[in-house]
Amino acid sequence: MAVQRRAPGQGPRVNSDLPITDLHPTPDDITGDVLRGLSATPKRLPSKYFYDRRGSELFEAITRQPEYYPTRIELALLEARGAQIAAAVGPRAHVVEYGSGSGRKTRLLLDALDDPVAYTPIEISRSALTASADRLDREFGDVEVLPVLADFTCPVPLPAPSRAADHALVFFPGSTLGNFDRAESVRLLAAMRDTMGERGGALVGIDLEKDPAVIEAAYNDAAGVTAAFTLNLLARLNRDIGSDFAPDGFAHRARYLRNEGRIMTTLESLRAQAVTVDGQRFAFAAGEQMHVEQSQKYSDARFDALVREAGLRVVERWNDPLDWFGLRLLRRGEPLAGTPR
Ligand code: TRP
Repeated sequence: MAVQRRAPGQGPRVNSDLPITDLHPTPDDITGDVLRGLSATPKRLPSKYFYDRRGSELFEAITRQPEYYPTRIELALLEARGAQIAAAVGPRAHVVEYGSGSGRKTRLLLDALDDPVAYTPIEISRSALTASADRLDREFGDVEVLPVLADFTCPVPLPAPSRAADHALVFFPGSTLGNFDRAESVRLLAAMRDTMGERGGALVGIDLEKDPAVIEAAYNDAAGVTAAFTLNLLARLNRDIGSDFAPDGFAHRARYLRNEGRIMTTLESLRAQAVTVDGQRFAFAAGEQMHVEQSQKYSDARFDALVREAGLRVVERWNDPLDWFGLRLLRRGEPLAGTPR
């Protein structure tokens, strides 16, 4: 991998020189979100708070566990199918990434595409946005990096590159779409449809339905990294909002619901106990399951129906040889019923 090294003594660049388009996303209300989740039946904690510094490190470690196949397969797919993806997408794209990950997938995509004009990561966290934008800017001199600080679940107007792009390509890898419930997924796809414009597209990674044992193993790795990752959410909340979750009072559980094609991750209360958040007490029964994450696995029929609801259609499919994970190229399809164009 051609990561450029800085000269010794030069030091890392701390402040980004890149102009950030700040759309002033509403700051997170962690306490409010947690109080709402704990007041629901069943109780739940919002999964978007997994990714503090430690959580992000643990997630990177998950992606390297032998049981966690999605990242490995998606990286291999981007590599093996890069030329086909580039041909289907077309030259001079403005690549728009929803969220910003480690950059490994973005790098493969930008390397594969024909003369990509610009790259826009859309992120709600300023530090994560700056880090990913700076990294990609250093590595891809020819691609104009135009970061946007925004909540990607709402349509985002794109900054104009200095050299005109032919079309926009939304990139949403990692089967992150599957972490949203159905209504939220449709809303997110509709936001992509808006952002991509008439001639644009979206390249979306989806985890496919398969042997439940394979899926359950991916979310219950033998080394216990996923368990450490979900339990880190409690430590993070204790630190950031002063809650008092007992770290040894809960255990990670991940179970595949066959009929729904979905893996449910919960934290099981190991005994009867109470937790206090912002002066409010919440009682847990022994064995009570608190929901922390869901991860939808798709059949082609399920995914096609989902994107159709958002006014999109699948125009290309790329799967690995075992059909475990797929990339889908989406374009605008039939206009949404009742939606003016
Ligand atoms: N998008 C990832 C997925 O659903 C995130 C993830 C992997 C995850 N393992 C997890 C989230 C365990 C919560 C718990 O595959």
